[in-house]
Amino acid sequence: MTAKRARPSVLIIGSEAQPFAKTGGLADVLGALPPALARFGWAATVVLPRYRGVTAGAPVETFPVTVGGFTRDAAFFEAPLADGARAILVDCPDLYDRESLYGVGNVDYADNALRFAFLTRAALEFAGRRSAPPLVVHAHDWQAGLAPVYLSTLYASHPVLAGTPSVFTIHNLAYQGIFDASLLPSLDLGWDQLTVGRLEYWGRISFLKGGINGSRFVTTVSRRYAEEIQTPEFGFGFDGILRARGADLVGILNGIDTREWDPADDRFLPARFDADHLEPKATVKLAVLRRYGLPVDEGAQQRPLVGIVSRMVDQKGFDLIAALADDLPRLDASFVVLGTGDPAYQDMWRVLAARHPDRIGAQIGFDEALAHLIEGGADMFLMPSRFEPCGLNQMYSMRYGTVPVVHAVGGLADTVEDDQPRRRKATGFVFREYTPAALLDALTRAVTRFADRTRWRALQVAGMQRDFSWDRSAQEYVKIYERAFGARPRGTRA
Ligand code: ADP
Ligand code: GLC
Repeated sequence: MTAKRARPSVLIIGSEAQPFAKTGGLADVLGALPPALARFGWAATVVLPRYRGVTAGAPVETFPVTVGGFTRDAAFFEAPLADGARAILVDCPDLYDRESLYGVGNVDYADNALRFAFLTRAALEFAGRRSAPPLVVHAHDWQAGLAPVYLSTLYASHPVLAGTPSVFTIHNLAYQGIFDASLLPSLDLGWDQLTVGRLEYWGRISFLKGGINGSRFVTTVSRRYAEEIQTPEFGFGFDGILRARGADLVGILNGIDTREWDPADDRFLPARFDADHLEPKATVKLAVLRRYGLPVDEGAQQRPLVGIVSRMVDQKGFDLIAALADDLPRLDASFVVLGTGDPAYQDMWRVLAARHPDRIGAQIGFDEALAHLIEGGADMFLMPSRFEPCGLNQMYSMRYGTVPVVHAVGGLADTVEDDQPRRRKATGFVFREYTPAALLDALTRAVTRFADRTRWRALQVAGMQRDFSWDRSAQEYVKIYERAFGARPRGTRA
């Protein structure tokens, strides 16, 4: 790259990004990846909806965007993220001024296909009007799955976007964006897309499949998950499709935002600490116990505090916890949980907390500040996920000296080292079988180990010293972008 040339640029499309809108880890990733790419000399623009309540951004322009017969003015707001990185928020009240991002309760909005097709069209139209178009389009999850499809159809001979290669990242294969095939015309797509090599999935259409089949490279968020999703056990019916793309499928572990998640400088903590000064962590623990109305006597302060911050969905292993409802309170530990999601799991935690008010505290809701407080104050962090593409909380936990207890899947397996004799770099407790007994065994091992303060401190410090920053991952994305760009059909654009 010579000094005179403009930065290479990437257009990132996704449905949530920090600090604008968040339901899960995708938002953390899309908030942190653009600045990380910018540090490596790229210009990164992430496009997402301007949902209800978002006030950030300055208006850039407004123009009509059409999907099928649906035309609305889209207003584009720009919010800087860092030097070289920005968010573009797409305002279209009919589609995005709603109570929540994807649906209410367990029910998705009926027009989600249109809502996210519109986002994708808006992002591509916006990019197509710039003087410096993106070298690569990077689409995330099913919501942006039509980006590669539109690039090779509607934009195949576009003066600016023709030939632009795309990279598609799977954050979670469980969400597949499956809709009735009859929607194709209203998405500006031809019936030729209803084939098994394109969008067709058991007679319906899948945006996720469109993203996988239409992009130059497919990435997912850990190496282990990249392997797992090619097997029937973790493939959610997509393992064959992913095996077919196996040569172009890459696992890139997420980083974490080490400034946002820093125990030495966290605005949400009543006391700050680091690997050399762990004592203030006890003050944070006390604050958590108080916040949850749990006992704060000497015994409560001495016994380990287990934290959970999670979407309450099947993925996260709550069925194992339900099976252990009578065993958990017998452990010499306290539990605090923060989460929202499936009403059945919310109720389960409410009932557990009501039954054991001296040991279990539950907060149903989404609360960024409390999430930080739990990461800071808990001694252990529980993530018994059935599957976990990457998982961020176990990495936040390690950074906060909060020792993770995890199931050996996906990113959890790739990031947490089990406490074994003579393993000096161990950072947590890992169980292999997805059974209540195996989880209980890991938790019991952790609680027992907690009593050995020297060994416990070693586990904490090993975790705190791990480097999960974004730079390594961003470099891997840059390599993929460069390969995608280099692999473009010749003669499409200089
Ligand atoms: P997933 O994306 O599958 O939900 P991750 O571990 O990748 O799992 O990311 C979850 C992110 O969402 C973390 O930043 C976590 O702190 C946050 N989070 C989840 N539930 C809540 C909640 N109820 N309140 C605050 N933050 C939450
Ligand atoms: C998904 C996955 C989670 C991952 C996150 C960000 O929500 O469930 O494991 O960390 O995306 O990639």
